[in-house]
Amino acid sequence: MLRLENVACFYGKGQVLHGATLSVGEGELVGLVGRNGVGKTTTLRAVMGLLPAREGSIRFRGEDLRGHPPYRVPRLGISYVPQGRRLFPKLTVMENLEIACVQAEVDPGKLEEIYTYFPRVKERLSQKAGTLSGGEQQMVAIGRALITKPAMILLDEPTEGLMPLLVQAIAETVQAINGRGTSILLVEQNLKILKDICDRIYIMEKGAIVYEGTPAEIDAAMDVQERYLSVKV
Ligand SMILES: Nc1ncnc2c1ncn2[C@@H]1O[C@H](COP(=O)(O)OP(=O)(O)O)[C@@H](O)[C@H]1O
Ligand SMILES: [Mg+2]
Repeated sequence: MLRLENVACFYGKGQVLHGATLSVGEGELVGLVGRNGVGKTTTLRAVMGLLPAREGSIRFRGEDLRGHPPYRVPRLGISYVPQGRRLFPKLTVMENLEIACVQAEVDPGKLEEIYTYFPRVKERLSQKAGTLSGGEQQMVAIGRALITKPAMILLDEPTEGLMPLLVQAIAETVQAINGRGTSILLVEQNLKILKDICDRIYIMEKGAIVYEGTPAEIDAAMDVQERYLSVKV
């Protein structure tokens, strides 16, 4: 469904992605993990067309995404929840969702469906987004990404900085969204979450994929976890 092959990306003269190759199949929930600064966010930005891939190819349902301007990529069926959530803190939750509806040309009446994933968001519609807890803000950010009914969602560290209980809640929500047929590429530094919910996991190091496996395979490959993630097992 989504396939990156040998993607190279640069910030100025500094090369950040060095031939990244990965894929997400129809209906799959795939994890991407790696230490800070290895290029995970850059990978997602390249898919969304926010940073040009200087080399390699990025295909979604057979279509080449390179050369599509960033506003066109969501219309092809890919939604993006950036790291750090990026809500408008001074606007209410409702206003944050309405803006996304306007951008996506979706009737705000359709929001009811989204609340079924996030009952707590519905209780807080008139609250300023900046006053919500980190977990609630993440729910709003994910809800906003669902407005276009995407075929695929790219999630960048949705559990970053959250308490364990909320980490679990986000993981369950991601799984539920995937369970209804949306393909997901989930970036995390929390390998445990990925092992709990993903079909397959990629490990990134210095802008390239260095390992791919199922949760069970990664569990068995203790040397890999230690080498690339500094996880002591
Ligand atoms: N806007 C930018 N300009 C220059 N360098 C950047 C920029 N954003 C990220 N980088 C660098 O690119 C590398 C990869 O960053 P990033 O993709 O954000 O990593 P990750 O998400 O895995 O933590 C890092 O070395 C980072 O410092
Ligand atoms: Mg990042």
